[in-house]
Amino acid sequence: MKILAIESSCDETAASVVEGGRKVLSDVVASQIEEHKLYGGVVPEIASRRHVESISGVVNRSLADAGCGLKDIDAVAVTYAPGLIGALLVGVSFAKGLAMAEDKPLIPVHHIAGHIAANYITHPDLEPPFLCLVISGGHSHIVEVLSYTRYRVIGRTRDDAAGECFDKVARTLGFPYPGGKYIDGAAKNGSRTAFKFTHPKVSGGEYDLSFSGLKTAVINLVHNAEQRGESLSREDVAASFQKTVADILGEKLSAAAKDLGAKKIVVAGGVSANSGIRAKMSAVAKALGAELYLPELKYCGDNAAMIGAQAYYDFLAGRRADESLNAAATLSLEDISL
Ligand code: KG4
Ligand code: ZN
Repeated sequence: MKILAIESSCDETAASVVEGGRKVLSDVVASQIEEHKLYGGVVPEIASRRHVESISGVVNRSLADAGCGLKDIDAVAVTYAPGLIGALLVGVSFAKGLAMAEDKPLIPVHHIAGHIAANYITHPDLEPPFLCLVISGGHSHIVEVLSYTRYRVIGRTRDDAAGECFDKVARTLGFPYPGGKYIDGAAKNGSRTAFKFTHPKVSGGEYDLSFSGLKTAVINLVHNAEQRGESLSREDVAASFQKTVADILGEKLSAAAKDLGAKKIVVAGGVSANSGIRAKMSAVAKALGAELYLPELKYCGDNAAMIGAQAYYDFLAGRRADESLNAAATLSLEDISL
C-alpha cells in the first residue's frame, strides 16, 4: 500500500510516498529556516505563506521521485495536529482537496505519533509495545507506546520543551536559530564539567520534566559574566549545558524504564539528533539491559516520511477523515488513542 503523506505543522513543507509503513519511496523537505532565522524564531504568518507557495511543487516532486502518479497512490495522509494552526491548515486543506478529487481515503496523522513512527523506518523490526522519549522543539514526553495507535503519556514537561531550551540557550550564546545543532557542535570542543547546573526538582508526576530553571541558570551565568566584563567559553557552556540536559533525560527515562520493566527504549523528535543525548541514551539502555532504538539523523527533524509511516498503521486501525477534517494547535496523544 502506497501512501502520499504531507507535513506542514511548523516551518518545513514536506511530502513523501511511503510503502507499507516502512519503505520510503520519496522524501522531500522544503525548509523555510533561512527566512525565519532573520527573526530569531518561526514567524507563524510567514510560515503559512511559504507553505501555500511551496506545497504543490513539493507534493509533485515527491510523486516524481517515487516514480508514481496520483493513480498509483492508495491513500493521502496529512499532519492535522499539533502545530501552528495556520501552517497545519495549508497541509490539511491541500490533502483534503487531493483526496476528494482523486477519491482516495484521507488519513489524519498526529505529529508526535509521526515522530515516534520515524523509528519504524529506521528499524524494520521495531514493534510496540515500547517506552519512548519524545524530545522536540515543542514537546518533551515520556510515552508508553502500547500499540501502533495507543499511547499513555506518563511524563511531560511542566514548562519548556527540551528543544525550546536548546534554542534559547543557543540564542544567549549568540548562535543562529534553531540553535540545537550549534550547541551540539560547540559542545564537542568544550568541557562538560566546566559549569555545574542543578537538576530540577519536580514535585508530583514522577517522570515529569522541567527545563525553564536550567534555561534561566545558563542565561544568568552568561549575562552575569558579560556584566563583569568577563568572557566565558561558549564551548564550555554548551558542553556543560548539554551534559545536564542529557543527564536529566537519562535519569527520568531510566526511572520510568525500571518501574515499567521496559526492555525496548525508543527516542524520537528533533532533539534526538543530539550526539550527547544519543550517547547518554545508549549508556542508559546498556545499564538497564534494554534495546535502544534511535531514528536515523535525517528522520529526527520534521519530515513527511514519518507521517506516511504512522499513517499506514492508523489506516490499518481504521482511522479515516472526511472533508470536515480540521487542524488543531494542541491535541494530546492520549486523546487520539484507538
Ligand atoms: O521535532 P522538531 O524538528 O520540530 C518540532 O516538532 O518541534 O524539533 C526541532 C528542535 C529544535 O529545537 C532544534 O534546535 C532541535 O530540535 N535540534 C537539536 C539538534 N538538532 C535539532 N537539538 C539539540 N541537538 C541537535 N543536534
Ligand atoms: Zn516535529
